[in-house]
Amino acid sequence: MVCTIMPTPAHPSPSLAAGFPDLPREPTAFLLHFARLHWPLFLPMLACELLHTLCGIFGPYALTRILRSAPLGVDHPQLQWAVMAFAGLALAEIAFGRGAGALQLRLAPIQRQAALRALYAWLQGHSHRYLSNHFAGALAHRIGETSLAVNQILWTGLFDLLPVVLTLLVSSLLLLQTNTGLGLLVAGWSIAFLVVSWWLARTSQPYTLAAAAARAETTGTLVDSVSHLASAHLFARLSHERTVLDRVLQKELGAIRASNRYTEQIRWSQAIAFILLKLGTLGYALFLWQRGAIQLADFVLVLTLGMLILNEARNLGRRFLELFEYVGNLNNGLRTLLTPHEIVDRPDAEPCTITAGEIRFDEVSFAYRAGQSVFQDLTVQIPAGQRVGLVGFSGSGKSTFVNLLLRLYDVDAGSIRIDGQDVRDVRQEDLHAQIGLIPQDPSLFHRSLADNIRYGRLEASDAELHQAARLAHADTFIERLKEGYAALVGERGVKLSGGQRQRVAVARALLKNAPVLVLDEATSSLDSITERAIQEALGDQMHGKTVIVIAHRLSTVAHLDRLLVFDEGRIVQDGNHATLAAQPGLYQRLWQMQADGFLGDGTVRAEP
Ligand SMILES: Nc1ncnc2c1ncn2[C@@H]1O[C@H](COP(=O)(O)OP(=O)(O)OP(=O)(O)O)[C@@H](O)[C@H]1O
Ligand SMILES: [Mg+2]
Repeated sequence: MVCTIMPTPAHPSPSLAAGFPDLPREPTAFLLHFARLHWPLFLPMLACELLHTLCGIFGPYALTRILRSAPLGVDHPQLQWAVMAFAGLALAEIAFGRGAGALQLRLAPIQRQAALRALYAWLQGHSHRYLSNHFAGALAHRIGETSLAVNQILWTGLFDLLPVVLTLLVSSLLLLQTNTGLGLLVAGWSIAFLVVSWWLARTSQPYTLAAAAARAETTGTLVDSVSHLASAHLFARLSHERTVLDRVLQKELGAIRASNRYTEQIRWSQAIAFILLKLGTLGYALFLWQRGAIQLADFVLVLTLGMLILNEARNLGRRFLELFEYVGNLNNGLRTLLTPHEIVDRPDAEPCTITAGEIRFDEVSFAYRAGQSVFQDLTVQIPAGQRVGLVGFSGSGKSTFVNLLLRLYDVDAGSIRIDGQDVRDVRQEDLHAQIGLIPQDPSLFHRSLADNIRYGRLEASDAELHQAARLAHADTFIERLKEGYAALVGERGVKLSGGQRQRVAVARALLKNAPVLVLDEATSSLDSITERAIQEALGDQMHGKTVIVIAHRLSTVAHLDRLLVFDEGRIVQDGNHATLAAQPGLYQRLWQMQADGFLGDGTVRAEP
């Protein structure tokens, strides 16, 4: 059978470059980054909001002018100007306010999406170690929460803090101009109130953060429980799962109550301080008016301005609490998501040019966790075009060997070279584009079968897609489905049988047609007849390629050029099937056991 699938170009297109965004990790810089990104909307919105606030502040001032000119008569131009100014300010306040609102409506989703997109792009660059140390659901939750926090903080700053600070400043100046004593009282109190509120809000942060963390834990547990609901059914542990959930909900409730109690205490103290000063201001203004120190118009002005200032100060006090919660969310998110990438391309990384496919491990040492070494000084060379089988007990390091070849992890010592190029010197994306991998647990996207197969080469034609499916013996079951290639496969491919999932993964790798092919238990779930048929198809594909096949079922690898027998991270035997089967050793024992229908599972150890 001749395969006509187009080969992958030796130099993958530059569009494959990862292009991670250069995101600031410091929260303020992160916020400014997104505000700057959308300045054509952000600046007009800022201007509208400033004008809106100023119109609001000068409204009471115009009202005083009306009151002062009222005795002059309705026809007096001074009164008419004052009325027009009042009306104009009221209209402008609405117009600018709505203008800012409309711009905000436009900007909000764009900005949130920009932050989400950038955070996701950064996340894509994280290593396998990072991804295996975090819950996928929790990371997705963090991205959503962090991008939302960008908006929440900017809006709180722009629509709550900025107008309030401006109102406080200008109103206090106007009030001071009208009556120094009252002005000093209100302004002084407001400043003291704000300083204390800021401090209280800061002290509340540990409570709000603890509540946020408890909420995240609930989401994590819930997602974990939902995704394993089938296991809960099978083990008849439905009520146990509810108990587990109840336990985290109880913990969450405690954290939320503690946070609410503290916030409520702050609100009470703010409310009492507020009432006292409101009454105090009213009493003092009345006192001044009675003594004739201020006129009726000034009385109205000081009262309106005084109340305006006090109300704004109270709102601001409340906003601080929310602001610190958002800032906490942003901080947490950035700390989790924007950690530096562990595995990075060198700035001068070369395009990967695998032409022959010679693989060389030189004194490679590696441990997933310090002190738990998987490989120590492992040296092996696989000549270009050789077809090699890796066998050995479960946990002996076969998949790790492949992980290092793909540079999913960096070696601790030594080097790995493909065609003489150290895998650390080439761009990861190029490296991955040129190694076709059928992983041990192929997980599929919840997309159509066609999309999943075409993942191997997005630009593949329908004919090429169908041919790959045919070679992988996936066409028969796909064509039997009502929707055929358009059928959705369920989350992680759960709607397919294990063997069907493997055949889709084989088709995908066939379509990719990379110069190096790695099969990690690629056909382990298939019956022997289908496996043999696929092997024949793969045999054509393997022609001229360097191929690494990992299999527990030795008949899968027995026909290959060479076998490497792994035991506890060491290659204990190296040779072809005929040689190894004839030699006393691990391979011979495994072979004999399998011939007896027993599959080695690690309970049997190699002879020392
Ligand atoms: N992501 C990981 N983090 C920490 N340790 C790991 C990780 N992956 C594998 N290990 C450990 O490394 C060792 C080698 O695992 P590896 O997956 O390479 O074995 P394997 O030979 O492929 O086994 P199997 O035949 O069961 O697939 C094992 O002890 C395993 O527990
Ligand atoms: Mg494995």
